[in-house]
Amino acid sequence: MRDYRDFLGEILISEKQLQERIAELGAEISRDYRDKNVLLICILRGGVMFLTDLMRQITIPHAIEFMAVSSYGVGERETTGLVRITLDLNTPIHERDVILVEDIVDSGQTIASVLDLLSTRKPRSLCVCALLDKIERREVQIPVRYVGFTIPNKFVFGYGLDIDNYYRNLPFVGVVDLEKYEALRAKS
Ligand code: IMP
Ligand code: MG
Repeated sequence: MRDYRDFLGEILISEKQLQERIAELGAEISRDYRDKNVLLICILRGGVMFLTDLMRQITIPHAIEFMAVSSYGVGERETTGLVRITLDLNTPIHERDVILVEDIVDSGQTIASVLDLLSTRKPRSLCVCALLDKIERREVQIPVRYVGFTIPNKFVFGYGLDIDNYYRNLPFVGVVDLEKYEALRAKS
């Protein structure tokens, strides 16, 4: 695997900026959901870093759950529009105040499918908290109640977001120089 520096275009959001914004989101959620029965549902795998940092900034009692969906495969850079649930919840969400925790909303197809599915299970409330919003690319209008950062239409990686399943561990969000990345991929 290549060192990420070989194809990093620029650091879009630094570790410090991420942590400061996540602290604000955590405080906001703690205020808005006081006395609610909060369940954070993390969409695997991209949402994992965001979830673990966000929950440490939420000061009210809450539970967590995980779901996984597949939207696109290695070498593909956008969703096919066909979203499959590959891991479902183990608990009923009836009477829970559900917050869906996502890394990024791009076309909106993934979140739209998950919202459709979860609303059939009649939670007490349901909203979306996304770290990143690539708003220019939206195909399906979905309500996003909490947004960390609105970003331009560029392929990003790090802080939970992968490029072909790697580099999720980086503490910042970087822009992929796709030309460099694809050239390196063709060589290996
Ligand atoms: P959507 O269904 O088009 O909104 O795509 C959402 C999913 O695509 C996200 O949950 C991410 O996993 C992935 N995704 C979208 N844009 C990027 C990106 O720039 N970098 C890495 N993953 C992305
Ligand atoms: Mg994701």
